[in-house]
Amino acid sequence: MFITKIPSSFYLLSFIFLLQSAFGLEYKCLGVQNSTISDLYCTNLNELFSYLSYEVPANGFALGTKGHDADKVYGLTIGNVDIKEKDCQSCIANATNEIRSLCPNSNGAIKWSHNCTLKYHNVDFFGHIDHETWFFTKDPQNLTNYQSIRQKKSEWLTQLAGQASINPPMVLFRELDIGENNKLNGSVQCTRDLSSLDCMKCLSDSIGFVPKCCDSSKAVRLFSGTCELRFEAYYNKA
Ligand SMILES: *[C@@H]1O[C@H](CO)[C@@H](O)[C@H](O)[C@H]1NC(C)=O
Ligand SMILES: *[C@@H]1O[C@H](CO)[C@@H](O)[C@H](O)[C@H]1NC(C)=O
Ligand SMILES: *[C@@H]1O[C@H](CO)[C@@H](O)[C@H](O)[C@H]1NC(C)=O
Ligand SMILES: *[C@@H]1O[C@H](CO)[C@@H](O)[C@H](O)[C@H]1NC(C)=O
Ligand SMILES: *[C@@H]1O[C@H](CO)[C@@H](O)[C@H](O)[C@H]1NC(C)=O
Repeated sequence: MFITKIPSSFYLLSFIFLLQSAFGLEYKCLGVQNSTISDLYCTNLNELFSYLSYEVPANGFALGTKGHDADKVYGLTIGNVDIKEKDCQSCIANATNEIRSLCPNSNGAIKWSHNCTLKYHNVDFFGHIDHETWFFTKDPQNLTNYQSIRQKKSEWLTQLAGQASINPPMVLFRELDIGENNKLNGSVQCTRDLSSLDCMKCLSDSIGFVPKCCDSSKAVRLFSGTCELRFEAYYNKA
C-alpha cells in the first residue's frame, strides 16, 4: 500500500502538517503551532492518555476529557474494525507514546495507524464531523473486474454506510460477492460521538470521494477525523 494525500483543493484544506511516520500511517498536528504547552496541560494529557488506553480495548472506542478551563484536554481513540483486543491496545499504547514527540509544540494532534486512531485537542471537537483531516491509502493493483462491479460496489458501500450509521456502535464489516468465489471485504465506521445523520454524512462524503481517488484499486482505506471506509478484494486462486 502506498500513501497518497487527498488534494487539499477538494476539501479546501491544507495538508502541510501531514507527514508520514515510521510505524503508523500519518499524523497531523492541530491548532496553533509552536504554542506554549503548560505543565498542567501535559499532566492532563498524560492522564487522559492512560484513561483512553485503559478504556478503548474492550469497546474499540473511548472518549474523555481531563482538566479545566485553559488546561482542559479532549481526546478520543478508536480501534479498527477487524482487529484483536490486544492489537488495539498496543496500537493505542504506541500512538500515545509517539504523538507527543511528533507534535511537541501543539495543543492538539491526530494520528492514524493501521489499527487505531488517536486524537486530542484543547478545543472541544466532540460531535463535530472532522473534514479537516483526511487521507487515503490504496493498493497500486487494480480490481480485475472493476468495470463490471463498479456500480454494485458503490451501492454496497452506500448500503453499509446507511446501516452502520443507524446502528450503534456505528461499525460494520461485510463481504460482497464479486463473482467466481471472489470477495470484496468492506468496512465502515464512525467515531461514536457523531449523530447518525453526521455519521452518514461523513461516510457519504468519503464514498463520494472514492471515484476521485481510487475507485479501481484492489484495496483502499480512506480516513477522516471522524470516519473510516475500507474495501479490499480477495481473489480465489483455485
Ligand atoms: C516554530 O519553531 C521552530 C523552531 O524553533 C521554527 O523554526 C518555526 O519557524 C516556528 N514556526 C512558527 C509557525 O512560528
Ligand atoms: C493490527 O492488527 C492485526 C489484527 O489484529 C494484527 O495481525 C497486526 O499485527 C496488527 N498490526 C500491528 C502493526 O500491530
Ligand atoms: C509499536 O512500536 C514498536 C517500536 O516503536 C514497533 O516495533 C511495534 O510494531 C509497534 N506496535 C504497534 C502495534 O504499532
Ligand atoms: C489501475 O487503473 C488505473 C485507472 O484505470 C490506471 O491508471 C493504473 O495504471 C492501473 N494500475 C495498474 C497497476 O494496472
Ligand atoms: C475477509 O477476507 C478474508 C480473506 O478471504 C476472510 O478470511 C475473512 O473472513 C473475510 N471477512 C469477513 C467479514 O468475512
